[in-house]
Amino acid sequence: MSAPPDLSALREEALAAVAAARDLAALEEARVRHLGRRSPLAELLGSIGTLPPEQRGPVGKEGNAARRAVEQALTTRREALEAEEMGARLAAERVDVTLPGDPWPSGSLHPLTQVRREVEEIFLGMGYRIADGPEVETTYHNFTALNTPEGHPAWSLADTFFVEGRDDVILRAQTSPVQVRVMESTPPPVYVIAPGTVYRRDDVDATHSPMFHQVEGFAVDEGLSLAHLKGTLLAFMRELFGRDREIRLIPHFFPFTEPSVDVSVSWTDRHGNTGWLEVAGAGMVDPNVFRAVGYDPERWTGFAFGFGLDRIVMVRHGIPDIRLLFEGDLRFLEQFS
Ligand code: DAH
Repeated sequence: MSAPPDLSALREEALAAVAAARDLAALEEARVRHLGRRSPLAELLGSIGTLPPEQRGPVGKEGNAARRAVEQALTTRREALEAEEMGARLAAERVDVTLPGDPWPSGSLHPLTQVRREVEEIFLGMGYRIADGPEVETTYHNFTALNTPEGHPAWSLADTFFVEGRDDVILRAQTSPVQVRVMESTPPPVYVIAPGTVYRRDDVDATHSPMFHQVEGFAVDEGLSLAHLKGTLLAFMRELFGRDREIRLIPHFFPFTEPSVDVSVSWTDRHGNTGWLEVAGAGMVDPNVFRAVGYDPERWTGFAFGFGLDRIVMVRHGIPDIRLLFEGDLRFLEQFS
């Protein structure tokens, strides 16, 4: 009669292997070795029928108990190892939310764009709309229709960029031609501003650039007078520069307005000196301009004004050189973000 197999030794060996497994892979190996189909325990349980009858019952009972004990140990060990591995992963992947973030460069609007938008907001608030016109313009719109006949010094090649091979197409020298284009296509009354880029053959120095920016404004309605012009400009300047501002109009000449004025705004510099700063040209729309666009000058009246946007930005921010506005130097631009 053969001795009963040493089940308690198999059981202890399996439990020891389970306890010794350091990770899930080792645990799986232990499971295959001690509970798998080819394991001694499985083979033993599979061959119970070959044992002497009186051993079958006790061996089967003890063998199944050993298997359950090892299965239980495996489950407990697996849960412990899984928790351990999760803990290790969480520790490794931990995010320290107190670390400073990676800086992400954010752009900002150019100072000219910032002030242009402010100007637009102010005039939109007064009921004006914003119009646009081409930068490559005809001499008719830039000069002739604006009561500036050929031969006037403004036509001179020395002042104006002509398109090569053409004597009737230029880079617009002012935003005033937008007046003509708007009136040609819109019946009165009109209240419009037209910001935009203009070009002149100015000598380039700290205050002159061959490309700069203007804002044109004009109103056409019945019964408009110089008082309306002055009130509009005063309201605008106070909105832009401050409530305490005054404006001063002094006579001047522009071909397309009659009378025409130069507009100055009161100004206090860094040293506390007060004075007047010339900021715009303006006047009452000349009847000849109305005739050119087909408006009845007996019925309609209007005022117009135009100012340099770059000049206003420079004064506003104390910028000494207009070229700084066009160089794209981040050290300069970052000061306005
Ligand atoms: N276009 C003029 C210039 O470039 C500025 C100007 C003056 C515009 C008088 C006007 C105006 O509308 O009425 O110097």
